Amino acid sequence: MSDPIISIRNLTVEFPTAEGKFRALDEVCLNISEGEHVAVIGESGCGKSVLGHSILRLLDGISETTGNIFIKGADVRSMSERELLAMRGQEVALIPQSPTVSLDPVIKIGKQIGEVYDVHGVPKQEWKEKVVESLGNIGFEDPQNIYETYPHRLSGGMCERTVICMGMSLKPAVLIADEPTKGLDPASKIDVLKTLNRQTNGKTLIMITHDYNAAKICERTVVMYSGRILEDGPTEEVMRDPKHPYTKALWGAMPCNGMIPIAGSVEKAATGCDFYNRCEHRCDECKDLHDMKQVSENHLVRCCKC
Ligand SMILES: Nc1ncnc2c1ncn2[C@@H]1O[C@H](COP(=O)(O)OP(=O)(O)OP(=O)(O)O)[C@@H](O)[C@H]1O
Ligand SMILES: [Mg+2]
Repeated sequence: MSDPIISIRNLTVEFPTAEGKFRALDEVCLNISEGEHVAVIGESGCGKSVLGHSILRLLDGISETTGNIFIKGADVRSMSERELLAMRGQEVALIPQSPTVSLDPVIKIGKQIGEVYDVHGVPKQEWKEKVVESLGNIGFEDPQNIYETYPHRLSGGMCERTVICMGMSLKPAVLIADEPTKGLDPASKIDVLKTLNRQTNGKTLIMITHDYNAAKICERTVVMYSGRILEDGPTEEVMRDPKHPYTKALWGAMPCNGMIPIAGSVEKAATGCDFYNRCEHRCDECKDLHDMKQVSENHLVRCCKC
């Protein structure tokens, strides 16, 4: 098997708060192969965005981080500012959560996308052609017109496609899409997922999502809870035969599966399994933290019942 394009080893991220340190990621280990499409799912506050941001070292200065992140073997945590700048956008790009918030309302779409080229030293006179071309590639029927448009004139789906366009402008090897279908109507969701799939064909995609249908377009699903990975396996198998009680509860809470709420809320346990207090199957063994255990080929679960 080839070396992973992204390798995360024992990544822990803590935020200082008035009540002490808050651990948002806890010893996360994750290898992602080139070309793999991976969904990262879990309830709000599980650490999905912190994981995505950490890969690009966007939390420097506001968090304390230990562990390692390697991109194509390069150690992200020891990169200089210059190396980071070169890596961001070119090797790995992040499409942030809430595109309507991340797009500047007073700058035209074309200029906002063009700024990505500017940061990476592409001469200004080459911008327009590249931006118009990529707006066309992303599915806008009138890219010239979109180039001259302000974000408030675009629908949610169009804003999402704009930020996908921005993320893909330098043709990065890895795209991290943070909740790309959030808040969209069903038709726009399908449209955005098709666009993402097409744009990342042959590339690596990390799709952070709450959307069961979005996860379905990825061949692998990673389930997070309280900053830890609890289950990781082929999406079809994890959906058909979830092993961890949390994954089962999460699927049951999806609108397409009856929306059965999971009692309680996400909390970090002092020791052992973080899902302990909410788990119907808890036992004394869960008071110890268990390693990820292989239950079938490529399917790993962190639960003493498996
Ligand atoms: N800058 C920060 N300071 C303190 N705590 C933070 C900070 N950023 C994130 N957190 C906390 O880290 C935890 C994980 O946050 P994160 O944004 O990764 O959640 P998420 O899984 O992406 O949730 P959502 O699905 O709502 O986007 C949350 O409890 C959050 O409050
Ligand atoms: Mg998030």
